[in-house]
Amino acid sequence: MMIRSKGKGKISLVKLTVKCLIVVSLLATFTGLSFGAERPAQFPERIILNLTADPAHSMAVTWRTNDINTKTVARILPANAAVKLVPAEPNIVGVSEVINPKNDSVAIRCHSVVFKNLQPNTFYNYQVGDGNVWSEWSQFKTASDKSEPFSFLFFGDPQNQLVEYVSRVFRQAYRAVPTAAFGIITGDLVTDPRNDDEWRDFYYAAGWIPREMPFVMVPGNHEYYDGADYRTVTPLWRPQFTLPENGLRQLAETSYFVDYQGLRLVCLNGNIYMEEQAVWLDSLLSTTSADWIVLAFHQPLYNTGTTDRDNEKARKLYEPIFAKYQVDLVLQGHDHVYGRSYPIVNGKIAEKGVKGTVYVVSVSGPKSYAMNSKFTDKFVKMGTGQQLYQVIKVCPKELDYRCYTTAGELYDSFTLEK
Ligand SMILES: [Fe+2]
Ligand SMILES: [Fe+2]
Repeated sequence: MMIRSKGKGKISLVKLTVKCLIVVSLLATFTGLSFGAERPAQFPERIILNLTADPAHSMAVTWRTNDINTKTVARILPANAAVKLVPAEPNIVGVSEVINPKNDSVAIRCHSVVFKNLQPNTFYNYQVGDGNVWSEWSQFKTASDKSEPFSFLFFGDPQNQLVEYVSRVFRQAYRAVPTAAFGIITGDLVTDPRNDDEWRDFYYAAGWIPREMPFVMVPGNHEYYDGADYRTVTPLWRPQFTLPENGLRQLAETSYFVDYQGLRLVCLNGNIYMEEQAVWLDSLLSTTSADWIVLAFHQPLYNTGTTDRDNEKARKLYEPIFAKYQVDLVLQGHDHVYGRSYPIVNGKIAEKGVKGTVYVVSVSGPKSYAMNSKFTDKFVKMGTGQQLYQVIKVCPKELDYRCYTTAGELYDSFTLEK
């Protein structure tokens, strides 16, 4: 087969294909592995479970399709070994909304369902679709309604080269603890949140893991980048996730809390409404009798990466509250390095016998920044140039934290005791 090339006569399609492949591979070298534009299908894709505010009795699932079929349904039943799964209950009808991230003729319909009235500590099978075309059956487990031991995974910024480098971190973490109750990502899931191709890469990197292991995530500064400013969360955030809405009304699905088997996990939005969140947090923590309080947000209070960073405003706002309620652990990202502090109370390393807050900064993606030496005296461990994941085991009397490299080697660890 031949085609005509202007001014050069005929060239073979094979030669042209080879040239195109060279150009594509050169581009991949500079931009990282990625795929071409993805058109949504009728088949459910990008399925992700999110924890709700009541994970012992409910679970949220979100997915997307093309906009041809507008129906949103899911079905669920307690997991069993039958070859044919036939739910006793009728299909659950969910909600959907249409987004058009590329601003072209390809509309995407994002669907969500919240499974309610579930039994605690129980495996369920579920399926999503339009009532005609269905996803595969997947399964998840609800939380216990008591303080019982469990583990969860923590990831700092994935953000860059998601397909090429981040996929192995998610896979290694899952390989290490496939029974982890959930995963948390502390922001900067992608670099340009308006670019649906980057979200596609995120879902490729995570694979089927979020279909069975629920995730919670907070927005980083990158999820707030709209091309000019950082004032509004990307329009792709809320349609893609179904996160709790039990925080400030103006920060629905970006600032919220979850109680999970003795842990109160509070996810804050580090971008906007900082003062309002401080008031809310003070009130929220005054009511909890949880064994452990863990905070998660994007921008660290004590920067360990990038020399010119210093989050003094957040320190002034939040540290007195952390000290007042003896917050145990703070999980953060943003700095693209690793750091784990000594227990700190109001800016000082806690004296022996005094309870302090441990601050952790981590990163799961390949982008690394230079170390920031401003707070070196407050940190037990600092490092850069590693992609990391963390396994946090929560027991009623003990919290065991372990940080690993992508090779599964232990990078840092500590234990907190009640
Ligand atoms: Fe960031
Ligand atoms: Fe980042």
